[in-house]
Amino acid sequence: MVYLTRVEHFNAAHKLYNTNWSEEQNKKVFGKCSNANFHGHNFEIFVTVKGAPNPDTGFVMNAHELSVIIKREISDRFDHKNLNLDVAYFKEMQPSSENFVKVIWDLLTPFIKDCELHCIKLMETPRIYVEYYGE
Ligand code: NI
Repeated sequence: MVYLTRVEHFNAAHKLYNTNWSEEQNKKVFGKCSNANFHGHNFEIFVTVKGAPNPDTGFVMNAHELSVIIKREISDRFDHKNLNLDVAYFKEMQPSSENFVKVIWDLLTPFIKDCELHCIKLMETPRIYVEYYGE
């Protein structure tokens, strides 16, 4: 089994805010992340697929094709968007990286053929990232 990872990039804004809570509670739990006028992140997305290298190509998956899929399904959809205001998934769900990585998994899964999606790592800052393995 060989693991292949492709990295892509996009920018998006969000805020973490629970409308059922007081301003004080939001500040306490989310800190600056609850800032009313949103804040931005330079997201790095690491998509890892796994499989046996194809005998003809030597590839688990064509890395360029994987890039095209990630750009089309993820970067083009979310780049320069406000996750709270522009993205239907987050009308009822907190736009945390934890929830976001699961949305990304579901969007990519149908397009991964002849190998398996193994992990998506979503880095929201150089010091914070989440990983999802589909379980
Ligand atoms: Ni944030």
